[in-house]
Amino acid sequence: MHLASLMEVNAHGEHESISNDNKRGVIHSAARSAIPSVAWNMTDGFDGCFVEVVRVRHPSESWQCGNGRAYTRTLPHPLRHPPRYGRSFIASAIGREDKAAGSLHGGAPGNPDPSCPSPEGVGALVVPTLVPVFRPLLPSAQEILPYLERIDQTRWYTNFGPLLDEFEQRLATHFDVDASCIATAANGTLALMASVATATPARGQDVPIPAWTFPATALAVLGTGLRPYLCDIEEESWVIDVANIPPAVIRRSRALMPVAPFGAVPRFDSWMACAEHSGIPLIVDAAASFDQLASVGVPFGAPTMVMVSLHATKALGVGEGAVVVSNDPAWIERFRQYINFGFSGTRRSDAPGINAKLSEYAAAVGLAALDGWAQARRQWVQTTAVFAKGLRALELRAQPGFGNGEISPYCVAEFASREICDRAIAVLAADGIESRRWWGLGLHTNPSLSDLPRGHLTRTDDISGRTIGLPFWRDIGSETTERVFTALLKAV
Ligand SMILES: Cc1ncc(COP(=O)(O)O)c(C=O)c1O
Repeated sequence: MHLASLMEVNAHGEHESISNDNKRGVIHSAARSAIPSVAWNMTDGFDGCFVEVVRVRHPSESWQCGNGRAYTRTLPHPLRHPPRYGRSFIASAIGREDKAAGSLHGGAPGNPDPSCPSPEGVGALVVPTLVPVFRPLLPSAQEILPYLERIDQTRWYTNFGPLLDEFEQRLATHFDVDASCIATAANGTLALMASVATATPARGQDVPIPAWTFPATALAVLGTGLRPYLCDIEEESWVIDVANIPPAVIRRSRALMPVAPFGAVPRFDSWMACAEHSGIPLIVDAAASFDQLASVGVPFGAPTMVMVSLHATKALGVGEGAVVVSNDPAWIERFRQYINFGFSGTRRSDAPGINAKLSEYAAAVGLAALDGWAQARRQWVQTTAVFAKGLRALELRAQPGFGNGEISPYCVAEFASREICDRAIAVLAADGIESRRWWGLGLHTNPSLSDLPRGHLTRTDDISGRTIGLPFWRDIGSETTERVFTALLKAV
């Protein structure tokens, strides 16, 4: 937390600095006869903390937050109530990265509280750390450096260079497949788009997807000019309910596109059976299943493409990137052609395409991330065990598969009702703890996707409303974990 400046403006319009040791600062002085303003500006490296401005307030004063976007509250606070000031209040303002500047101002100038002996020390700036919902941790500059130096030597920056080649080889080892069954791409959304665009046979205009997923699943389909069809999810597994996709939709589908939610093990058995039975290929959005896919592999059967995102929020991140794994090397070939302008060995665009190649720089990060994977994985496993235990103690369920051995970068808690879930969000927020409905309330609630054709989405509506992503990352630490569970306990 860097607090660039925190100023108090006294009655004469003078600014007085307020000391700040990045944890707790005391308002040193304030004009006795007027109610000052408190202004803050945290644009300099403000990194996800919140600031709480605590002031003893005369009952006749009124305070306003000058930053319309900041969250403010003014409330009596018996615990921190300094007795000598009679009735007192706390005004607090929470600023986030995008809300990093603001001010509190107001009061009743000329109407000071005569019982107030001295304003000195009446206020305190408290800067507890905001608990974000996720803190990505990618390899350090030092760990990436040897790979960057190789780029300096080769002067090969992108276009299937030696680092990318090595990265793909090592990914093939991780997923235990031949290198011809693997390709990388600039990000998961483009990798899904390339998978849909190169799926054969190229007949049918619909692509059934679950309604409960990240918008990228639908946007990738739309990007190819095809039409996502939103399906409901299963109660227990949270995956697409293939049994209830209308046969007419299947008949006009280009591919079936299920999602492995929040790092679940892909449910190849039922998806493959549906794809084979319908004669369509299978594209699995397994964005967060880097670990899980390695343990199950891609089975033989219908032509299948599985996408794993390498976004910074995933278990193995490179910043932006993705890897696809297939049981069909010919599909991988078409995929590679698509992500490189439709080129195939020449500079002639022979087939539809875009530019979605992964650069040597991203490969450098990926190689360094793979160097540290075993250790990172151990840390994920430990953290997962702690969260799984904490949730069990509160009789809460996490996403299917959480704590079953493989690791996911998410911990999504399921509550008994939407009401309890909303309460949990509010209680966490009041304690400075962020939570997130990672996938909102279903794709159909996104304005740009609300017109998509769909079936009944009863379970999507229900489950998306009762679940939230808790703060969760591999080195979250016991103190933050305890804060999260202490807050959760109040809600359930
Ligand atoms: C289910 C799902 N699909 C697709 C994506 C898109 O991946 P990317 O961010 O690499 O484009 C995400 C991203 O989190 C995701 O969660």
